[in-house]
Amino acid sequence: MFEIKANHATSKREQYAELAEQVRGMLADEPSLIANAANFAALVFHSLPDFNWAGFYLYDGQELVVGPFQGKPACIRIALGRGVCGTAAQTRQTQLVRNVHDFDGHIACDAASQSEIVVPLVNADGSLLGVWDVDSPSVGRFDEEDRAGMEALCAVFMEAVKP
Ligand code: SME
Repeated sequence: MFEIKANHATSKREQYAELAEQVRGMLADEPSLIANAANFAALVFHSLPDFNWAGFYLYDGQELVVGPFQGKPACIRIALGRGVCGTAAQTRQTQLVRNVHDFDGHIACDAASQSEIVVPLVNADGSLLGVWDVDSPSVGRFDEEDRAGMEALCAVFMEAVKP
């Protein structure tokens, strides 16, 4: 069984680097997208502080559909271009939202969410796999280091699930 290791890193950057190594080890040799996505969501949610939701929305060819996650039940389908997730999917750029109330069109799945990061997940052939979304109950929980850290974790994930 996979053990979530205590993270002794002193800086956010080190914390993400340690987590990236754990993700790499956890996903090694497992090709199932759903299994890896579920374990990735659980590991990140339980390793970093101050989250109320962490999970995937997967692109079904038309819209984003909620995938493996940790947190309360969430909105099921999100159109491209809608909300923070749909914006990340459409623009293919990470959305760092310090205060969700300042984001025009933010979709409130959990009223507790106050800040959010959404990273687009793009396959090697350029097609859209989906997005990775993390929410916090604290305004300003995420900064540029979290953006870089989440993008790095997602890169490890995409490397593991590539066909
Ligand atoms: N807030 C997101 C919706 C998904 S939930 O946060 C889980 C958005 O605006 O797209």
